[in-house]
Amino acid sequence: MKKDLTKMLDLSKSEILSILDLADSIKADFKNGKPTKTLEGKTLAMIFQKSSTRTRVSFEVGMYQLGGSALFLSASDLQMGRGEPIEDTARTLSRYVDGIMIRTFAQKDVEDLAKWATIPVINGLTDYDHPCQILADLMTVREHKGKLDGLKLAFVGDGNNVCNSLVIGSLKCDMKVSVAVPEGHEPHEDVLNFAKKYPNTFELVRDPAQAAKDADVVVTDVWASMGQEDEAKARQKALANYQINSALMAHAKSDAIVLHCLPAKREQEITTEVFEAHANTIFDEAENRLHAQKAVMAMLMK
Ligand code: CP
Ligand code: NVA
Repeated sequence: MKKDLTKMLDLSKSEILSILDLADSIKADFKNGKPTKTLEGKTLAMIFQKSSTRTRVSFEVGMYQLGGSALFLSASDLQMGRGEPIEDTARTLSRYVDGIMIRTFAQKDVEDLAKWATIPVINGLTDYDHPCQILADLMTVREHKGKLDGLKLAFVGDGNNVCNSLVIGSLKCDMKVSVAVPEGHEPHEDVLNFAKKYPNTFELVRDPAQAAKDADVVVTDVWASMGQEDEAKARQKALANYQINSALMAHAKSDAIVLHCLPAKREQEITTEVFEAHANTIFDEAENRLHAQKAVMAMLMK
């Protein structure tokens, strides 16, 4: 594995599966009261330039459960917020801590941080990617379906960071992926280029029903991501037909699961009815952020 986890594209299928296997065993040990203490005495710095509930809490608690500790660093409180260059922040933090998690806007900032830091850097969400989320999603699919190979995953909504990582991670794990987005809301072009290698298992369609047809897993995410608040109204209009509701779910397999990375906007990308019917899986997914990230940190920071 590389020094860092900056994007989903960097992980091979076998690396993804190794992370998921370790996450499963860390979760089982934790549930059995025998938590793995792989990172005793280690510290993670967590830089946040955007809001977070799950990422912040799961990384912080995850470090604690592994025997280490974590520092919450709001970018606006760091000198970074006053213009200190990323390369100096990276080299400074590398002298104090054992790993850095960063949630920010530009993917390039994460890549630059990783380039200059001598310690592992983990992407906790950028406008382009959300690899930790997708590791938790794949872990949740495996838990509920017993496998990944050959399952059909449908993503309906905005082709955002979560969609980008999900397409890459799911295709790498030999799932069939169907993405339904309106014009102008396609996944990133790097992702579409990557998906060209999977002509038999990837499709980009306009009709949500076509994507959902016979799906084992149906996924969506907010229509306006962090940083797009000003576009919220226009996006609601553009994406109005791309809602996960019971009519759409009727096209999926009867035992299909629904995933949502959260936070969710009810009655926008998903109805309350479908959300609540699948709340158990959705909160398993939220829980699995903790175990999947403990596996990533254990592998990178040990
Ligand atoms: N899914 C996710 O990353 O949630 P937060 O924004 O609360 O961290
Ligand atoms: N696409 C969303 C995901 C939030 C976890 C966002 O970037 O805001």
